[in-house]
Amino acid sequence: MTDFKAWSRERAEHFEACAKKALPPENKLPWKLHESMRYSVLDGGKRVRPLLVYAAGRLVDADDEALDHIALAVEYVHSYSLVHDDMPCMDNDSLRRGKLTTHRKYGEAMAMLAGDALQAQAFFELTQAKVPAEQLVSLVKLLSAAAGPAGMCGGQAVDLLAAHSELNLEMLSTMHRMKTGAMIRASALMGLYAGRTMPDVALVGAVATYASAVGLAFQVVDDILDVTAETAVLGKTAGKDAANEKPTYVSLLGLEKAQAMADEQIRLALEALSTIDPEGEKTERLVQLADFVIHRDH
Ligand code: IPE
Ligand code: IPE
Ligand code: MG
Ligand code: MG
Ligand code: MG
Repeated sequence: MTDFKAWSRERAEHFEACAKKALPPENKLPWKLHESMRYSVLDGGKRVRPLLVYAAGRLVDADDEALDHIALAVEYVHSYSLVHDDMPCMDNDSLRRGKLTTHRKYGEAMAMLAGDALQAQAFFELTQAKVPAEQLVSLVKLLSAAAGPAGMCGGQAVDLLAAHSELNLEMLSTMHRMKTGAMIRASALMGLYAGRTMPDVALVGAVATYASAVGLAFQVVDDILDVTAETAVLGKTAGKDAANEKPTYVSLLGLEKAQAMADEQIRLALEALSTIDPEGEKTERLVQLADFVIHRDH
């Protein structure tokens, strides 16, 4: 199968079914919390991080169920980051994934708790992956580092502190690598730990280079789409970065140079993959995902 659309649709539907089953049920107390967690994860999103988990899993002899638990873990952390990112104390958005943001639907307190609970559930999901203990420790390390102060949370803090000011290119790149790149990088790397043995060091190195570049490109494209795309297509409010006076690749470099910069990152990503798989057989989905990141319309 080489059709990326068919593969990604099938994987996204499979992921949705797993999440429906794994998330706490709405008919059980505290049902409001459960409902808001389900609302925040289900029925929306491109599922790029789970797709990276599944695509990287093809490079090792990955256990399918372990990949599902890892995919749930990364998407829970990502969804929680979106719920908190949209709150009035952060970006103050009312639309996400084509629906009302979680705090607009359930109130700020419940949105905060839904995010907190999703983060905890993410680590619970990792414990359900049947992989050797050493690999489980690596999975916990990767996810905690990507979500924590050196990763997503740290990057979000820089983002808030940088609002209404200008950043130089180096600081902007650091912020993007932290707030978005870290979770993208972890998603691809974590897929490598779902096999029977620890992954090969050269493989981990190449996938890390690939995913770091894709992660940076992902946020650069997010900055571009904020300027060029329509709210209806984005499923979130367009023009929000300028309205919130956020420093972005577009505000610093302009659209053309920002696009060139994202293209260059994708070139670096593909170059890294070719070192481990010159024929491009096993890395096909990762290559297609890199292409999707740069050509997506939302
Ligand atoms: C949006 O992420 C926030 C960023 C980290 C740039 P996505 O563009 O992956 O959002 P969904 O999951 O598809 O809604
Ligand atoms: C958010 O970046 C990154 C996260 C860690 C959630 P943005 O604030 O640009 O994400 P959007 O544009 O609201 O999706
Ligand atoms: Mg933000
Ligand atoms: Mg935002
Ligand atoms: Mg954005």
